[in-house]
Amino acid sequence: MLLTLAVSGYRSLRDLVLPLDRLTIVTGPNGSGKSSLYRAIRLLADTAQGRVIGSLAAEGGLQSTLWAGPEEVSRRMRIGEVPLQGTIRRNRIQLRLGFASEDYGYALDLGLPQDRGIFGRDPQIKCEAVWAGEVMRRGNVLARRTGPLVEILEDGGERVPVLTDLPSFESMMTHAADPRHAPELLALRERMRGWRFYDHFRVDADGPPRRARVGTRTPVLAADGADLAAAIATIREIGDPGALDEAIDDAFPGSEVEVTEASGLFEIRMHQKGLLRPLGAAELSDGTLRYLLLVAALLSPRPPSLLVLNEPETSLHPDLIAPLGRLIARACDATQVIVVTHAASLVDGLGVVKGARLLSLEKRLGETAVDCEDRPRWEWPKR
Ligand SMILES: Nc1ncnc2c1ncn2[C@@H]1O[C@H](COP(=O)(O)OP(=O)(O)OP(=O)(O)O)[C@@H](O)[C@H]1O
Ligand SMILES: [Mg+2]
Repeated sequence: MLLTLAVSGYRSLRDLVLPLDRLTIVTGPNGSGKSSLYRAIRLLADTAQGRVIGSLAAEGGLQSTLWAGPEEVSRRMRIGEVPLQGTIRRNRIQLRLGFASEDYGYALDLGLPQDRGIFGRDPQIKCEAVWAGEVMRRGNVLARRTGPLVEILEDGGERVPVLTDLPSFESMMTHAADPRHAPELLALRERMRGWRFYDHFRVDADGPPRRARVGTRTPVLAADGADLAAAIATIREIGDPGALDEAIDDAFPGSEVEVTEASGLFEIRMHQKGLLRPLGAAELSDGTLRYLLLVAALLSPRPPSLLVLNEPETSLHPDLIAPLGRLIARACDATQVIVVTHAASLVDGLGVVKGARLLSLEKRLGETAVDCEDRPRWEWPKR
């Protein structure tokens, strides 16, 4: 389970260290930093896939994602005695992301490019570290990257260089995770690759979930929900069909969903009270289809170690929020869940779940802040 998430220099998240629980509910007003937090977790996951530089570029590049406020906000700036202004920079410009779980932690530090040429805007991975335990200390670093050099801690306590020429756009998580030298790195990378994210499903008339598709066994719903019918059929075959029926009946009393197959093409059919024939995915309302997608995501027969949901309430009728909350609560039995939401009713419903933690974000002087008494200890690796 992830215990700590740390973000620094990313958009409005100037310096945030958050405790995480079995279920973490992130909420806050518009502009408080919810989506930024969601994206920061995605960027961490992208690192394990070797995609972090590309994902930053897709967001508009490092320059645009870096914290746009002053490096330090003095007390006099905070109380308005002096205007908010930049001072001479003392530290490097950097975007840092990290997490710690019970057994291992990982952090990376991205900085501005130094090379010119056609890729002269690519941010550079300046340093990375993997450590044992919750907080990085001098003695518990298992693998460390500084520029092109990757060193691994060997059994005898010696640091051995395993790579000396790692390019600045590649992570040690993808390039030094060797089962012989660095089994911990490999294990951690595989765990990060298993993190699952669901963001707004496209359910417009041309949206992927509305089309019939060739179905194969699908224990994990795709991020775009294109394989919804196959995922539901797979829950029926190897998952918990009782929970599936319950979740549908909970939201739409008296309704049932079945999956039909014709020449390999899978389609869902929803039987609803008062209708003489079932409706297909192309005919369901946006909210109904979104709810079915969330059911398929949350009842996956292969639950991930971490599931992150971004505003799952989008386009759901208020009546569906309570059933959605029950589904999320149920998923927490097998999975650590982070829900980013601005639906007060979902916050209230989930707040009572055992092991739930509420993080209410707010913006203070342009910076995302959160009141939590138990800010975890955190150390960043140094360049
Ligand atoms: N580079 C940056 N530096 C500082 N602040 C930034 C930067 N880029 C964006 N922001 C600000 O960060 C804030 C947080 O944005 P974010 O999209 O995370 O908010 P949100 O909580 O998801 O809001 P909403 O509920 O409206 O979706 C916004 O006010 C945005 O203007
Ligand atoms: Mg948002």
